[in-house]
Amino acid sequence: MIYLDNAATTWPKPECVYQAVDHCLRTMGANPGRGGHSMARAASMLLYEAREALAELFAIEDANQIVFTHNATDAINMAVFGILNPGDTVVTTGVEHNAVARAIRLAEAKGVIANIIPCTSNGELDMAAMTAAIRQRPKAVIMCHASNVTGAIMPVPEVGKLTSQHGVVLIVDAAQTAGVEAIDVCSMGIDVLAFSGHKGLFGPQGTGGIYVREGLDVTPLRVGGTGSLSESDTQPDFMPDRLESGTPNTPGIAGLKAGVQFILETGRPKIQMRELELTKLLLNGLKDIPGVIVHGPVDISGRTAVVSFTLNGRDSGQVAHALDRDYGIACRAGLHCAPWAHRSMGTMKTGTVRFSPGFFNTDEEIGQALQAVRELAAQGG
Ligand code: ALA
Repeated sequence: MIYLDNAATTWPKPECVYQAVDHCLRTMGANPGRGGHSMARAASMLLYEAREALAELFAIEDANQIVFTHNATDAINMAVFGILNPGDTVVTTGVEHNAVARAIRLAEAKGVIANIIPCTSNGELDMAAMTAAIRQRPKAVIMCHASNVTGAIMPVPEVGKLTSQHGVVLIVDAAQTAGVEAIDVCSMGIDVLAFSGHKGLFGPQGTGGIYVREGLDVTPLRVGGTGSLSESDTQPDFMPDRLESGTPNTPGIAGLKAGVQFILETGRPKIQMRELELTKLLLNGLKDIPGVIVHGPVDISGRTAVVSFTLNGRDSGQVAHALDRDYGIACRAGLHCAPWAHRSMGTMKTGTVRFSPGFFNTDEEIGQALQAVRELAAQGG
């Protein structure tokens, strides 16, 4: 199989990730922070080291400000419903994934006012409109770091500069960028970072996290056992316990930690460069195939490793099915849980075929994928 669906979940994982999950289940299968015995202590140490590795990757000063979640969606829900109250205004963008879009719609139903800043058909944010919106001093801006459909990298540092100046909370959905793009929460003005573990961080599915800037209180959506202050029936007010209740996904976090360590050892820029090389091969090849329209930014420098295209106006699901059935190519088609992005791009009707290469893809695989698209294009319909 040629796996080009890394924007959904990276696969394969580095070997150390498989080993870490296995090792954890066999030797650390106890509750972290809930017992004094050696396995519980080992599990606690694992969580501590995983937080430290993530803190290093995102330039976070205090690793305890990072909380483990099920995925980025979980983290985004925690941020939206833990920060926004009825009457607050939230600003967002016209390319957000449903993780943000649906959370915003539900928040609106509870009395939050939403201001959605439009994006161009290439996925570019209307920065003048965003600037004007931030000057109105909303409670928060929530935006993706890169779109999972257009592949466009969003101007987070520019927005972060404005939100910092105006005392606005900046919540960033880094599902598509964590582990690949540079993220430095302080210099980018990010107050809350939501990330998934199973994409660029090479962790297993069911892992993710949220970073909350020190001093910003996020009301917990879930409360419960933390292994700390057990005599009290109210949730601790210190991080990470304030937002992290119940037995965590320790084996998943073991895999996540191994994935992050792989990135730190390999060098994030090397991973980013390799993904961009593969993306460039795809973009160069696709642009010469008659009937193919590539969506998203024209310039490679504004892109992540996501290439969305349509073929002769065909339904994208049918194209992806043919790629899978006849060529063994795994990709994603349709609306990618991001209808707002497709509305901006004008692809609501067909959806797009999305190729998302990852660090472990080869040039040859990209060549084979391009040849498959060429052959499908030549078939006409
Ligand atoms: N959000 C993931 C994707 O883009 C699942 O495919």
